[in-house]
Amino acid sequence: MALHRGQEIDLTVDGLAFGGRGVARHGELVVFVSRALPGDRVRARVTKLKRRHAEAFAVEVLEAGPGRVTPRCAHFGVCGGCAWQDLAYAEQVRHKAAQVDDALRRLGRFEIELESIVPAAEQYGYRNKLEYSWSDGPDGPSLGFHRAGRWDELVPVETCHIASPAGNDVRRAFERWAREAGLTAYDGRTGEGYLRHLVVREGAHTGQLLAMLVTAPGAVPGRDRLRALLPAEVVGAVHAENAGVGEATAGLEPRPLFGADRYEEVVGGLCLSVTAGAFMQTNTVMSERLYELAIGYAELSTTDVAWDLYCGAGAIGLLAAARAGRVYGIEIAEESVARARENAERNGIANIEFVAGDVAKSVAPLLERAPRPDVVFVDPPRAGLTPKAVKRLLELAPERIVYVSCNPTTLAPNARALVDAGYALERARPVDMFPHTPHIECVALLRREKTGSDPNFSGQAHHSRATASST
Ligand SMILES: C[S@@+](CC[C@H](N)C(=O)[O-])C[C@H]1O[C@@H](n2cnc3c(N)ncnc32)[C@H](O)[C@@H]1O
Repeated sequence: MALHRGQEIDLTVDGLAFGGRGVARHGELVVFVSRALPGDRVRARVTKLKRRHAEAFAVEVLEAGPGRVTPRCAHFGVCGGCAWQDLAYAEQVRHKAAQVDDALRRLGRFEIELESIVPAAEQYGYRNKLEYSWSDGPDGPSLGFHRAGRWDELVPVETCHIASPAGNDVRRAFERWAREAGLTAYDGRTGEGYLRHLVVREGAHTGQLLAMLVTAPGAVPGRDRLRALLPAEVVGAVHAENAGVGEATAGLEPRPLFGADRYEEVVGGLCLSVTAGAFMQTNTVMSERLYELAIGYAELSTTDVAWDLYCGAGAIGLLAAARAGRVYGIEIAEESVARARENAERNGIANIEFVAGDVAKSVAPLLERAPRPDVVFVDPPRAGLTPKAVKRLLELAPERIVYVSCNPTTLAPNARALVDAGYALERARPVDMFPHTPHIECVALLRREKTGSDPNFSGQAHHSRATASST
């Protein structure tokens, strides 16, 4: 009998799909099952039916698979974060490596032996940035996350285990202040209420915290009381107003509430100052491992020119500058570029320049005045490189491309386009920055295969190298 929506069926889960759902079969149908893990036998309710696949969620685990563990978090399964907290960490890492391998083979048509995945140094307390939303409950306003699969429902949190203890204290202090001040949460359906979001950022190596409160328009009451409630490690708080209906924590214009408008972090020995809206990898310790790996893949020498595309606040370029002759960074977000420039100055790094702009539009003008790169680092957002960005990269024709990716399903086709145009995919290594979530980072090295017909490659034009002393 044909399946119908709402029907409950028993399934045996035999894999994990990209994104984190269990994969099972029902006759000819592939079924993607939320909250089910490999080896589980589950009773699942069908939520969506297509010709070749269906979607379902597990209503009961009839027999647990071998990797199941008890999740640490009281909000597990309800909160939309940490979907894999009930999967043993060794299994999480194994599945992530398999998903990168699968993406490169299936979507990129590569036969490559991945280097072993770098597991996370800490499985909890690793996030240096948390974005909470306010909602009203019986005790007054609370901070929490979106309910799994719902954009319109929030789950208040008691303790978030991937935040630090100090980060949790900051959230609790804001809740206490809001209740004492008699404030209410903004309601997206009616447009009424005041409190919208709280972003807590933290320097993992400095212990400094910065908070950004996002509200509907209106002054923040009781600032002195708020300051008194917050832990001493909070170096400052900023306030941003959002008058729109859409949720936003980025692209706002925060103003100081008290203290500093930035916190300090140390990354790979560099002292960085970070404002509320500047880009920063959200796991500091693992970002250091990621950057070390990327810079190692680049095989830099002190005469090399390196370009750091999608550079954020400049971390890769700033770290690479110690081993390269000259570095250029391109980044679209002005706030991140401002931090990158400040951080270069602060760390006494003179052989680097940052350009604010879209990679697709800024590469050509930069190339008119800057030396052609020997190495290009690319670290694009999840959507990967656009066809235009791939084209610009090919026009740059560096000998080595180090691709830092947060999404293997876009890395694979991007790498295929580069390989089809004359590069070889030499190395790739996944890095786990986000335990208990299905997210995975990967660093890949592509090397230009020398061909006589390539004008940038056959002659010396390409090797217009800078010296270590150039600025
Ligand atoms: C994954 S982050 C990489 C940041 C940096 N490499 C780091 O580790 O700190 C991607 C960055 O690309 C920037 N970005 C997104 N689209 C862009 C574009 N079209 N041109 C330039 N930068 C872009 C984002 O603002 C973000 O800072």
